[in-house]
Parts: sequence; structure tokens; C-alpha cells
Amino acid sequence: VSAPWQGRALTVLGATGSIGTSTLDVAARLGIPVHGLSARSRIDELAAQCREHRPAVAVVPDAAAAARLRALVPGQRVEHGPEALDAIAADPAVGAVITAIVGAAGLAPTLAAVRAGKRVGIANKEPLVMAGALIMAEAARCGAAILPVDSEHSAIFQCLEGHRGHEVAELLLTASGGPFRTVMDLSAVTREQALKHPTWTMGPKITIDSASLMNKALEVVEARWLFGIGPERIRVLVHPQSVVHSMVAYRDGSVMAQLGRPDMRTPIQYALTFPEHTAGPVAAPDFATLAALTFEEPDRRRFPSIDFAYAALRTGGAAPAALNAANEVAVQAFLDRRIPFTGIFRVLERVLALDHGPADDLGQVVAADQRARILAAEGL
Ligand SMILES: NC(=O)c1ccc[n+]([C@@H]2O[C@H](COP(=O)([O-])OP(=O)(O)OC[C@H]3O[C@@H](n4cnc5c(N)ncnc54)[C@H](OP(=O)(O)O)[C@@H]3O)[C@@H](O)[C@H]2O)c1
Repeated sequence: VSAPWQGRALTVLGATGSIGTSTLDVAARLGIPVHGLSARSRIDELAAQCREHRPAVAVVPDAAAAARLRALVPGQRVEHGPEALDAIAADPAVGAVITAIVGAAGLAPTLAAVRAGKRVGIANKEPLVMAGALIMAEAARCGAAILPVDSEHSAIFQCLEGHRGHEVAELLLTASGGPFRTVMDLSAVTREQALKHPTWTMGPKITIDSASLMNKALEVVEARWLFGIGPERIRVLVHPQSVVHSMVAYRDGSVMAQLGRPDMRTPIQYALTFPEHTAGPVAAPDFATLAALTFEEPDRRRFPSIDFAYAALRTGGAAPAALNAANEVAVQAFLDRRIPFTGIFRVLERVLALDHGPADDLGQVVAADQRARILAAEGL
């Protein structure tokens, strides 16, 4: 790898998940040494990863999980708890961190990586939604390079290379539309249907977010902070084939798009090898066999989530953090079959209508997150 962090190692936060395993596949192909790996519940999978990738440190949530991992992989250094997670993100041996934890749980280690001035490949979008202004300010202060891993943001990042914000007319964020794009009545859709994504294979939380278009809502907020472009210049377009990963429309009417197969190893690899595109396992799309690339407006009546994102950005302060927290609670309740699919929208609407205060420091963001979780749970 000719990346600027060459010679130093990689930490993968959330190694056992969908992004985590893809990241380890990419790292092994590129010959990047692994410093830290973390998991929450899948200790057997983490043990297999330790045997294969030989990290310096593996991090699990508690002492019991640590004892289990040590028994499975004798000789492996194992740490536990939140400080250990921050430590593998900030260790001097580490050049790059891929954040692949799901949800607000990734906020502290993401900030630890940023404050240690690492190259930080952000898959875990929820911390940026909660505290985007703070994270970007810390990155500038500490010399961290934030590289998007989300395929849409990787696409926009590539389409923006060499250009400046004032040249941009609009960021065009594409969405597959999810499994319910053509389902007119969402009141009776099931958990099993929601978990079947038409084009991507991902962890359960983001798969439900894709079905509700809340994933795109979170991505609107993510784009606002990653690229410093106001929400009035960010537009969502449904593109069911998931081949055009996103586009940038410039002021002269010229539009740049980035295309690829729906395989997260492409954006993960680019976050690690930027500014170079190096050889990888994913082939380019076969254009001769692509029947059509189509685009349509999202249905904001059936999927109010996208409007929630714009409303939260307009309100500002801790409103996006509260929206994210309420969504995490609502998605878990839907996965546990405690609320129907459309109940997710009701919870979000109710929480978003409340006052969530400012988000000038991390304490305010975390307090708003906690409060919104309680309010969301009360309203289930
Ligand atoms: N999957 C995709 O294609 C994709 C694309 C773009 C963006 N993203 C984003 O990337 C992030 C990860 O998504 P994913 O699909 O890879 O999720 P996933 O498959 O559910 O994996 C999540 C990972 O985080 C760990 N984890 C979960 N909760 C945790 C907690 N409270 N504390 C510490 N670790 C925890 C899990 O550990 P255990 O499994 O051991 O419990 C697992 O390693 C999400 O923010 C998602 O929005 C994903």
C-alpha cells in the first residue's frame, strides 16, 4: 500500500460484523498488519479472526468474554471495556482505523481515533450524525484524515476530488429504495421481509434502516458534515440497481458519478489506499449485461424518514443526535417484534417534535442521546 500511513497497522472496531469481516479480507489482500480487533457478542468469530490475522490486541466488552477468548486463543493479548476500545483506536502503532461498530456505541472510539490523528475510515455513520460538527472540528485540530466508507459517501468523495464546495450545485445521494420500494401498504410488512435487502448484504440494523429509508436520512446528515455542504444542496434519488453509488452535480450542469458493483470491499479498500486505486477483488460492472439504470424521486409520504433528517438539520443542535437515538430504540423494538414497521416512523416523529437543546460539546450530545432513548422507549 502506498498510503501515507504505510508501515503502521490497522485497527478494526467491530471486526465481527459485515463491514468488519470485509475489512479484514481487504487488509489481508493488501498485506496490512492488524493491531486491534474488537467484537461484542460473537467471541467464536473473533477467536477465528485472531488465529487468522494475529492482532496485537483483541478487545471485548467484559471480563467473562475476555476469559472465553483467552481460552479459545492461548497467547492472544485480550483487553476489555471501553477504555481498551479507545486504546486500540489511538495506539501509536496504528496508522488507520476502520470504524465498523453499529450505532452510538462507536462514538467514543471514533473520537479516540480522530484525536490521535489517525486515518479514520468511517463506516459507523451514527457518531457523525450525532456529533458531526464536533468530530470534523476535532479532525481538523488533530490532523486526522476522515475517509468515508459508506459507498455513497465514498462515491461523492471521489466525484469531489480536485474540486471545491462552491463549484457544487448538488450532491445526489442514491438509495436502492429497499425491499418496500413498490409496497404501497407498509402497515403489515414483517421483520423477515424487512431483513431481505434487494441489493446489499449487511448487519440487521442498517438493513432495517434501508427498508425505512432511515439509512438514507442518516446519510444526508453524514454528507452534510463530511463534505461541509448545506442540506439544501443534498438531494436523495432512488436508484434500484445500486450501480451508481452517488453523484455530484456541478454548477455548469456537468454531473460526475461513481459506479461499481454493490460490494463494500471497494469503498473499504479506497479508504485504506487513497489517493490510489489499487488492484482488488471486485470486478467493474459489466455494462453490456446491465439492462438499465433508472432513477426516481423517493416517496416521502410512505417514507417520511428523509424529511425527518432535513428537519433535524434545520433545527440543529442535538436534534440529529436525538433522531438517531430514537431510531436505534425503534429499530430494536421492531426487530424484537414489539412495534410494527410503521411504528418506527411514529416514534421518530414524536421524538423529533421535542426540544433537544444544543450540541456544543460531547456532554450535551451524550445527554441528548440518553434522553431521546428514554422518550422513544416511553412512546413505543
Ligand atoms: N454492512 C454494510 O454494508 C454497511 C454499509 C455502509 C455503512 N455501514 C455502517 O457500518 C456500521 C456497521 O454495520 P454492519 O452492517 O457491519 O453491522 P454488523 O454486521 O451488525 O456489525 C456490527 C459490529 O459491531 C459490534 N458491535 C455491535 N454493537 C456493539 C456495541 N454496543 N459495542 C461494541 N461493539 C458492538 C458487533 O460485534 P458482535 O457481532 O461480536 O456482537 C460487530 O462486530 C453501521 O454503522 C452501518 O450503518 C454498513
